[in-house]
Amino acid sequence: MIVQELIRAKQRGQALPKDDIARLIKSYTDGGVGDDQMAAFLMACYFRGMTYDETIALTSAFIDSGNRLDLSSVPGVKVDKHSTGGVGDKTSLVIAPIVAAAGVPVPMISGRSLGHTGGTLDKLESIPGFRTSLTVKEFVDTLAGTGAVLAGQTDDLVPADRKIYALRDRTSTIEIFPFIAASILSKKIAEGADALVLDVKTGDGAFMQDLEKAKELAGYLVEVGAAFDLRVSGFITDMDQPLGSAVGNWLEVVEAVDTLQRRGADDLLALCLTLSGLMIHLGRKAKSIGEGVEIARYMIDSGAAFRKLVEIVEAQGGDVSVVESTLAYRVPRVMVEVHAERTGYVARIACRRLGILVSRLGAGRLKAGDEIDPLAGIILRKKVGDHVERGEALCQVTAGKDVEDLSAIRREIQRAFSISSSPPEKPPLIHAFFDHEGVRAWDATGFRPV
Ligand code: URA
Repeated sequence: MIVQELIRAKQRGQALPKDDIARLIKSYTDGGVGDDQMAAFLMACYFRGMTYDETIALTSAFIDSGNRLDLSSVPGVKVDKHSTGGVGDKTSLVIAPIVAAAGVPVPMISGRSLGHTGGTLDKLESIPGFRTSLTVKEFVDTLAGTGAVLAGQTDDLVPADRKIYALRDRTSTIEIFPFIAASILSKKIAEGADALVLDVKTGDGAFMQDLEKAKELAGYLVEVGAAFDLRVSGFITDMDQPLGSAVGNWLEVVEAVDTLQRRGADDLLALCLTLSGLMIHLGRKAKSIGEGVEIARYMIDSGAAFRKLVEIVEAQGGDVSVVESTLAYRVPRVMVEVHAERTGYVARIACRRLGILVSRLGAGRLKAGDEIDPLAGIILRKKVGDHVERGEALCQVTAGKDVEDLSAIRREIQRAFSISSSPPEKPPLIHAFFDHEGVRAWDATGFRPV
């Protein structure tokens, strides 16, 4: 394999043979091919795309870069959930305990912050001691013991994705359908999930900003999943404003804990209940998604889901005391409010911009190896549709250490909120449902596709 020739072929839009794709991914994972050549290859794929067969080959190559887990010792239908990435999207932290408490095993391999979006692993690691890097044995034992496990790719499990994910982030080549499919699905196939619930985000803060593109991606993920016998279904949901109120790693853990203790934001709770309902249904613990939602609600109301979160944190070495009492955590060094410059209604929140600003505050990585500040983030006081008086707080900015360009960041946050004199139309939370039968409208009160 001559890598330069593969890059040239892709630059010209040619489809590559399966074996070449497999060799390229293996060699990059092992260190033979460097970041420079892989980045050039990614850029060529970004502009030229890949065929369906190439995507299947890419997904297989990702899976084959490590081992596949055997979860046959864990009884039940294993169901995972994955989001294509958003701002303030902490649903995994809420859903995994709900669904596990309902008796459906949840093996979850998650990612780190990517571009302007947050990552479940970074959020979990803001809990002191929480280990996301588990051996295969630890992964299986934790799942068998607590009913849920939340971890990252390891040297054993899809190492290709760990390396390529980080390179896509650094080279702004995240939005390539085949790489998104290979990245998400390889992790789920290798971890041994039987079914996958996908939360495909659309809107300004999503990688697929356009609804039609998001629908196309959803269909593509269902199709590629089916080629590997993975049942994929899910929802296309709104990312035109952050989900819930908190954006930033520890802040999002706190909001997840609040949600499990019935103090969560309405949009976050509604989405978590719907996603959990589908997972509980796929895990054969409910006859319909609606019944699954009722069970999910009961798991929160009875305290079972919160107790399950504590159990998960303990099993993965995290400090349970800060989850049981989030006030026991370190106090942020920076806590400043950003105020509205005029009276009116919040018409729009530039979600992507806000995600980038939160990254700049220290919650994400601007370059590989950057250290994350777990306390960096934003707590929204106003969301789209809310009335705001001039001088009233739009949000609060927090950070665990001094922020160099804080006043510039504050001004940019102010600019990220558009204020109008009349109330805007609120975006729907769930745009559509999808499964192997296609993409359909969703009845959010009857909890069924229509
Ligand atoms: N989530 C992933 O795991 N990979 C992607 O490429 C995008 C979102």
